[in-house]
Amino acid sequence: MKVTVAGTGYVGLVTGVCLADLGHHVTCMDVQEEKINLLKAGYSPIYETGLEPILQKNIANGRLHFTTNPKEAYAQNDLIFITVGTPENPDGTADLQYVERVALTIAGQLEDDVIVCMKSTVPVGTTEKVQKIIEQNKPPHLAVEVVSNPEFLREGSAVEDFYYGDRIVIGSRNQEAAATLEELYSPLQIPMIKTDIRSAEMIKYASNAFLATKISFINEISTLCEKIGANIDEVASGIGSDRRIGPHFLQAGIGYGGSCFPKDTKALAQLAGNVQHPFELLEAVIKVNNRQQSLPVEKAKHLLGSLQGLKVAVLGIAFKPKTDDIREAASIKIITELLNEGAIVTAYDPVAIPNAEKVFGEKVMFTDEIREAILHADLAIIATEWDQIKMFPLYLYSEYMNDALIIDGRNCYSLAQAKRHEIKYISIGRPVEQGDGSPVSLN
Ligand code: UDX
Repeated sequence: MKVTVAGTGYVGLVTGVCLADLGHHVTCMDVQEEKINLLKAGYSPIYETGLEPILQKNIANGRLHFTTNPKEAYAQNDLIFITVGTPENPDGTADLQYVERVALTIAGQLEDDVIVCMKSTVPVGTTEKVQKIIEQNKPPHLAVEVVSNPEFLREGSAVEDFYYGDRIVIGSRNQEAAATLEELYSPLQIPMIKTDIRSAEMIKYASNAFLATKISFINEISTLCEKIGANIDEVASGIGSDRRIGPHFLQAGIGYGGSCFPKDTKALAQLAGNVQHPFELLEAVIKVNNRQQSLPVEKAKHLLGSLQGLKVAVLGIAFKPKTDDIREAASIKIITELLNEGAIVTAYDPVAIPNAEKVFGEKVMFTDEIREAILHADLAIIATEWDQIKMFPLYLYSEYMNDALIIDGRNCYSLAQAKRHEIKYISIGRPVEQGDGSPVSLN
């Protein structure tokens, strides 16, 4: 099929590259000339596992093209995906200006019938709005059907999720359009759920809200575990083995971040408010997450008193491993709070430093060496569970730090490991251990 993908962010780029790999002829369109030039040369502007080789392969075999020219992109296609950003407005609602703008541009360039597919996460009702915008601005003789096809790609494993996703959701009012989407994805052999447009849009929000709820739930349980002397690892494994609950998304820590969960939970809560049904459960999920991100600095102040002039290493900046994305990362809040407390911060990350530098400039020292970050530090806070951190030997903390104190926001080390070393190790939802192995109370 001939496909255009409008917007080359994480979702658009992965979708475009992988669709080309399935055998379709794909054009990726973006207004940013610099990005398109980079892509034409075979380089991915984002760090995404496995993406670049597939990108290069499909440029070479002639199935993947990049352009900034709307006519070339939109005039004649079987399908156009809208994958532009839907950032958050200050009140938590989704900002739809890019979606609306691209809908107008598409309508202005069309020379043939086409199916337009909304992949950006948008409030319920937006797909119908896009249908209207295109209807009102397209050449009258052309038939355009707008469908909803939400994405479920996780950053860092987006390519894998494209090929091996659990389901593909297609929301359409028109059987033929839905069948075209089915045909497009058929080589993947992933179960397809065909539904109406509003339900498809809601499935996306409800999925992310449910996953965020699971995370805040386990984080609340982890705080209780700390207070009553239970261990969250045991508890999560105990409840996760009930098939009705399942073992996934029960990793306690310093909360969820990224480009989706924080934004989508707020947008759904806002949407609920708009229809006079305050979503109290989801509001609590958001509140718990905000609190969770502040835990490391709270614990540090509890243990050390003032942080003024102390040297603190923040290990991991990306919102999760295998990505350079720092949007809504717990590390941002942690570093900001540390700086406010007068601490001297050195931050480690294997790939996210260029993004972090844009936020903190010279207020923070950055390094891609864990040893350098912890050298003479008074405190190390682990904010991302990178393999490099998990594999970093614990004895080196006592060798390099002033007085090894680790606050591990991602439970990277086992308590048994921590017990064997001359360190004070504080993690999330687990009994606190110090060098001699005896538990200490934070109360
Ligand atoms: C998410 C959804 O998973 C994906 O389906 C959607 O389309 C986009 O949003 P992503 O934001 O890339 O994907 O990351 P994900 O792996 O889902 O993790 C989100 C956040 O939750 C991370 O900050 C992670 O650290 C946190 N998390 C995840 C936990 O704190 N505990 C867990 O058990 C799982």
